[in-house]
Amino acid sequence: MTFDLPDWLAPLLRQGAEVRDLGDGIGSFLPPGSEAGGYDRFAAIYDAVVSNQAYNALFWGVPPSAHRRFAAHALASTPAGVVLDCPCGSLLFTAHLHPPPDSHRLLLSDRSEAMLRRGRDRLWGGRHSPYVCLVQGDVFNLPLRPGSLAAVTSYGGLHLFAERRRMIETLWDLLRPGGRLFLSTLIAGERATGDWLLRRLHRAGQVAAPFGRKALLDVLPPHATVNVRGSWVFASAEKTPRTLR
Ligand SMILES: C[S@@+](CC[C@H](N)C(=O)[O-])C[C@H]1O[C@@H](n2cnc3c(N)ncnc32)[C@H](O)[C@@H]1O
Repeated sequence: MTFDLPDWLAPLLRQGAEVRDLGDGIGSFLPPGSEAGGYDRFAAIYDAVVSNQAYNALFWGVPPSAHRRFAAHALASTPAGVVLDCPCGSLLFTAHLHPPPDSHRLLLSDRSEAMLRRGRDRLWGGRHSPYVCLVQGDVFNLPLRPGSLAAVTSYGGLHLFAERRRMIETLWDLLRPGGRLFLSTLIAGERATGDWLLRRLHRAGQVAAPFGRKALLDVLPPHATVNVRGSWVFASAEKTPRTLR
C-alpha cells in the first residue's frame, strides 16, 4: 500500500524514495522486515519512566518541563518551513507543540513503530493533521533532499549512537542555509548518579559508551550555543553561509 503523502512533503523527498503505509496515518521509509529496535518492546515503560519527576531529578538533575521548554523555544525560533524531529519517540516532550503554527510543517520520524503510534495517539487520538506527518525512519538514512529543511530537532537521541559525528553531519546536511539544529543529549562527567545510570544503560546496550562535554563539543558545529543542565546538554546552531560546512 502507498502512503498518502502530504503535498508539502513530496518535494522534499529524494528521487526514488518510497514511503510504505503502516496504517492509521503513519508511513515508513524503511523496507518491510527492517529491524525494529528495542524501543518497540519498551515503549510504554519508556514513557512511564522518562516522564517521572523523581527519576529525572535523581538521575539527570533536570525536570521534564525543561525538555518541553527547549522544544517550544526551538519551534518558536525556527523560520517558516519544514521541521524534522528525529528521533521523535512518542512525543513525550513535544506533543504540546501541536498543532504547529500555519508557518510550519512537522515531519516526525523514529525507527520504532510502537513509539510513533504512541506519539500519534498523544497528538490527536488518531485524527489526522495536514501539517504533521509521522514516518518511520532511520536517522542515518532518511531519504530527504540535502538543504531542504528549516530546522532539525533531535532530542535525547545522540547518546544512543557511537557515530555521533556522522549523525550530526547527516542532520546538518538536511538544513537549508539559515536553518537551525536543536539537539539535546545526555553526557557523562556532570553528576555521579547520572554517570552511574549511563554506565548501566551502556552495559545493557541501551546507549553508546558515555561521553563528556569535550567529546560533544568536538562534534558540534563550532559556533553552537551549548547549555549544560545536570547531565543534559541543550544545544543549538544556525547554518549560516559562513558555517555551511
Ligand atoms: C531516548 S528516546 C528519545 C525520544 C524522544 N525524542 C524523547 O525525547 O522522548 C530515543 C529514540 O530513538 C529512537 N531510535 C533509535 N535508533 C534510531 C535510529 N537509528 N533512527 C531513528 N530513531 C532511532 C528510538 O526508537 C527512541 O524512540
